[in-house]
Amino acid sequence: MTLSPQWLEELRSRVTLSTLIGRTVKVQKAGREYKACCPFHNEKTPSFTINDEKGFYHCFGCGAHGDAISWMTEQRGLGFMDAVKDLAAEAQMEVPAPDPRAAQRQKTRATLHDVMAAAQDWFVAQFNGIDGAHAREYLKNRGISESTIREFGFGFAPDFRGRLKDALSVHGIDRLVEAGLLIKVDDKEPYDRFRGRLMIPIRDPRGRVIAFGGRILGDGEPKYLNSPDTPLFDKGRTLYNLDKASPASRQTGRILVVEGYMDAIALAQAGFNDVVAPLGTALTEHQIERIWKMVEAPILCFDGDNAGQKAAMRAALRALPILRPSHSLNFISLPAGQDPDDLIRSDGAHAFAALIAKPQMLDEKIWQVEYDAEPLNTPETKAGLKKRLADHVRDIAHQDIAQHYRQAFDERYQAAFFARNDNRPAGRRSQNNNRKFPSKFVSFRPMDDTKAYLIEGYDLQIAKGILGGLIRHPSRISGHFEELSAIKLADSPLQALLGELINIAMTKETLDMQGLLTILEKTDCYNVAKGLLRADALNFTFNRKLPDDAPSLLIERAHRDLAEAILVVTARPGLEAALAEATRRVQDDLTEESYAEQQRLREAKQLFHERLVELTQIDDAI
Ligand code: UTP
Ligand code: MN
Repeated sequence: MTLSPQWLEELRSRVTLSTLIGRTVKVQKAGREYKACCPFHNEKTPSFTINDEKGFYHCFGCGAHGDAISWMTEQRGLGFMDAVKDLAAEAQMEVPAPDPRAAQRQKTRATLHDVMAAAQDWFVAQFNGIDGAHAREYLKNRGISESTIREFGFGFAPDFRGRLKDALSVHGIDRLVEAGLLIKVDDKEPYDRFRGRLMIPIRDPRGRVIAFGGRILGDGEPKYLNSPDTPLFDKGRTLYNLDKASPASRQTGRILVVEGYMDAIALAQAGFNDVVAPLGTALTEHQIERIWKMVEAPILCFDGDNAGQKAAMRAALRALPILRPSHSLNFISLPAGQDPDDLIRSDGAHAFAALIAKPQMLDEKIWQVEYDAEPLNTPETKAGLKKRLADHVRDIAHQDIAQHYRQAFDERYQAAFFARNDNRPAGRRSQNNNRKFPSKFVSFRPMDDTKAYLIEGYDLQIAKGILGGLIRHPSRISGHFEELSAIKLADSPLQALLGELINIAMTKETLDMQGLLTILEKTDCYNVAKGLLRADALNFTFNRKLPDDAPSLLIERAHRDLAEAILVVTARPGLEAALAEATRRVQDDLTEESYAEQQRLREAKQLFHERLVELTQIDDAI
């Protein structure tokens, strides 16, 4: 559709710019003009000027400049035609329709907009009425505030097949079907699509309701039911919350992409307004392009579990063919099993802020996912990794970008398999490059020397692995006297065995497993010891039976892992104590420092945990 310059001029002249802008920011009259704090940059004293006569705004601070249409496109984030339509409606001008078919389509859409607006009002009324008590209770339990409820327009669809149909029948049954509010199968009676669900309106960039997501209250299938695609709603091109996120991103220079509506809403409630979500599908190219119009490198926030990582990888691979200079995706992984909503509820907004402060770049993400995809313990599997990476590079259409990716992957590949004479898979560690154990926490001595650290819970399982390891490799006991004497195992037969092992090692200089077992045979600990040698629940290298002629590399590896497992288990109680202390301090007095200290300890804890997991996931070729 082409609009004549005269028509646009007429439109501009009919709109009072200060009124339009005044809806978003506070404006003050200053002589013949108006002033405001500039919405395009952060400022405390107003340098943003609006001139109604000339119909433009100008910021003396950041240089933002434009008219009513650019206000709608730049500040409100609308497309040009949407901006024009909004302004025309306000100026009571008819947007010229170029041909009858387009005019017809536009008319249909206009009526559907009315239908959706009526449905939204109706769902909200149900939410606030008697039938809505359950839904209100549900949101309250999820910690959603009254103002968030209003702002995001939560509603409720009662559990009946014909309530909405009756209430909105004036709009015509066919329209209700077309709007996706009723389901019509063959020539049977149409019935309400959404029944017994909490309703979340999905808005277009202009803030108009174009679809709904309905969440079941409690358990049931499907958890979320979305509107079908309609003339108003194209799932693959819509982003939830775009209308609010777009202006917010102008302030923050950032867009967060989460997986679900409730995540977007919980984040907004916690102060992260620059957040969007796709609608139950993987991010599409259209959605990525739309986000790139706002920022160059949005941060995709995915669950750390398998499904979340798969979704992250799908988005990554979709982006490759359309990458262009400066435009990319960044990633963060949430703790497994947690989405942003869960994390904020359990650990607070700070925890989420800390995560998004250190996102992973796209090339790192792809490397990591492919590296972790399967054990890389044969020449063939290693070459397989190389091939998969090369295939991804081939998908990158932009040649310069492709070349950089090729180089980045090559370097990592070289570093992982060729550069080290160390026999450990370096790639796994290279993800953790700066992740040495912080020496501060590697003190294995309890703060109070007279007390031993109690090893309990899951760590007791690991302690079993360690004891088994010490029996298989008795020469190592003397090297760890100090750590081993500082712990107390919350299981008395195990603790007794530990005591015996230390005693024996103190009196005998050289010792092999058979020699050790012969001595143990005379004690009460013999059966426990034999049991530990049989136990293979823990897959540590040092719990394996090695052949007599085992290569020295294998033995060294087992010794090194054993030392590390002892370090992790014995350092952990001290770390926990320090973390508890730091958490107490944060609660007493939340400052940058106390918070940073707590974060650091949390990270250390996570690191210890990951290291343990890695120690139990050793591939066989090593
Ligand atoms: P999740 O199952 O992760 O939901 O689905 P959630 O956002 O954490 O929801 P709560 O916290 O349990 O309420 C993520 C997104 O996938 C789509 C929805 O868009 C949802 O927001 N989805 C999920 C569906 O479309 N249908 C479903 O049955 C489930
Ligand atoms: Mn959730």
